[in-house]
Amino acid sequence: MILGISGSLRRGSYNRALLRAAAAELPAGVEFREWDGLATLPAYDEDCERLSRAASALRRELHAVEALLIATPEYNHSIPGALKNALDWASRPFPDNSLRGKPVAVIGASTGLFGAVWAQAELRKILGAVGADVLAHGLAVPNAGSAFTPEGRLGNPHLAEQLRMLVQELVRRSSRRVAA
Ligand code: FNR
Repeated sequence: MILGISGSLRRGSYNRALLRAAAAELPAGVEFREWDGLATLPAYDEDCERLSRAASALRRELHAVEALLIATPEYNHSIPGALKNALDWASRPFPDNSLRGKPVAVIGASTGLFGAVWAQAELRKILGAVGADVLAHGLAVPNAGSAFTPEGRLGNPHLAEQLRMLVQELVRRSSRRVAA
């Protein structure tokens, strides 16, 4: 099972669209679920570390899945606060947190020319700090407003191929982990 997280809560989010385009590239038999708890997580509070039901649910979910695919928008050259908040919850208790050793692929879309590259770099840095097994390559989708076909695939064949390869690498990485 691969868990998808969109860093954007927006109804018409291009990053959610990217997540779904990625899910459509998964090999047959690999299950995918989108996490919908981002909006309901409280702000991280170390005093309430074991008390938040929403955070416990997130940790359980992360422990249960083989891999994670995160599509992040770029907000002010970084990741959205809600996504950082979720990662802060997931990172505790350290070091045996629910992200430790978990294969994670990072992708991102933006309406501008750069495809959320700075946000993806920040996200990789955070995931590395909490001990996740982050794939070296991401995928940057620029001009997101015109990047998707009516069927929800990426219109640019090079980007579509990169997305397919990335998803396959994530599946390989998670199978290796299960076999180890
Ligand atoms: C943005 N956007 C943006 N884009 C970018 O390339 N670099 C940036 O630093 C920012 N900063 C930023 C801050 C805030 C608060 C917002 C709301 C937006 C534009 C952003 O990439 C665009 O709105 C995306 O479409 C957001 O992703 P979703 O919601 O479509 O997934």
